[in-house]
Amino acid sequence: MAVCFAKHGYKVVGIDTDQHLLAKLREGQPPFHEPNLQGYLADGLKNKNFTVTDDPSMNSMSDIAFITVGTPSQANGQIDLSYVVSASKMIGHSLRSARHYQLVVVKSTVAPGTARNVVKPVIDRESNKAYNLDYSVCSNPEFLREGRAIYDSENPDRIIIGSDDHAAIERLEKFYQTLYSNTMPTVIRTTFENAELTKYANNAFLATKVSFINCIASIAERIPHTDVNSIASAIGLDARIGPHFLNAGLGWGGSCLPKDLHSLLNLSENLGYRAELIAATDETNRQQAEKAVEFAKQALGALADKRVAILGLAFKPETDDMREAVSVRVINRMLGEGASVSVSDPLATENAKRIFGDRITYAANVDECIEGADCCILVTEWPEFKKLNGEAFVRKMRTPTVVDGRRLYDPKEFKKAGVKLFAVGVGPEGSESENR
Ligand code: UDX
Repeated sequence: MAVCFAKHGYKVVGIDTDQHLLAKLREGQPPFHEPNLQGYLADGLKNKNFTVTDDPSMNSMSDIAFITVGTPSQANGQIDLSYVVSASKMIGHSLRSARHYQLVVVKSTVAPGTARNVVKPVIDRESNKAYNLDYSVCSNPEFLREGRAIYDSENPDRIIIGSDDHAAIERLEKFYQTLYSNTMPTVIRTTFENAELTKYANNAFLATKVSFINCIASIAERIPHTDVNSIASAIGLDARIGPHFLNAGLGWGGSCLPKDLHSLLNLSENLGYRAELIAATDETNRQQAEKAVEFAKQALGALADKRVAILGLAFKPETDDMREAVSVRVINRMLGEGASVSVSDPLATENAKRIFGDRITYAANVDECIEGADCCILVTEWPEFKKLNGEAFVRKMRTPTVVDGRRLYDPKEFKKAGVKLFAVGVGPEGSESENR
């Protein structure tokens, strides 16, 4: 978001306490992989529209302060607001010396009530300034996807602005109007709490949609001549359902869906309501990762001393992020069963090393990963894995058994090549249509 604003001519200063992160950014090194990010960062640094600092007083000069800190889940699922509180304190403190109005925008995903009951009072206390006159607060949740962060920042579907100060909402809307001009999306003006809950509802709905199709996949796996993909394309044509987020697989992961779902569950439980649908969405997701182990056991029996190859570590393609990745759960289960594990991923290997150390083998490429393996589990749908045909697995593996956890492969072609293929959502007799 920062480098996109800078790209569009705004002067952006990024404030953080992490010296290592600041040093990397100054060198033009993004702290994570994201398509086009490096180029945007380089441009911003070069034309000085984007600078970084650990000096919180720099905030006093800005017209808008975006709070974009992390809001991790605690062990019980409750959201950890400590970074939001310290950012609010910092902003409040810096506002003491500010000579002009500042709009404070909460971008971080927070529980409903946080802007009103946490951010506002903390800034009020720290700044000694007058709300509405010297500063205001808006909730403005972020919906960008990892792997598409730059694109989504420049092409949002909609903008949600919540506040108790209508003038502040207008100011922020005006800022976005200048930024997006012709492509300005719909703006929803609402309360703080509606804006905050919208973000949770959005992610919970996406997770539920995926878990729903995964549930249908598990039913299809027990009925001959079925294929969940055929069912997903058909129901996706119903305009009321829509085609997106109906890809069955080993489940969803990442830094947002799991965290936000757990926060929503915790939040609703604290409000005296058990959100069964959200709980079932989560449980279905847990079962999906387990499915990889079940398929492997169906093919090989006990997994002790078996060699298992894992294709894909990142929680989805185009990122090196392994937070809550399905791969982590699958690998841990395989290691627990006594299997030896080799892995391959175009980007996430360094992150995997931090999690698994020397407990697994890091292959330099796919061939090395599947060489001599008894079972291969396709976990992340990277395009380069999609190119592989059945032949490639037969050539390299000891027993060519493949678990297609993302539906990349053609069951007929793999069968013909001599691969024992287990695919999520395909019934026992395969999926060949009798009417084709
Ligand atoms: C998500 C939301 O999409 C985004 O709006 C929010 O701002 C942050 O959280 P992200 O975590 O980047 O974005 O990933 P997303 O593309 O939503 O995918 C989440 C997970 O669902 C991935 O593990 C993906 O593999 C899985 N998924 C997605 C499926 O299994 N099937 C699908 O059909 C779609």
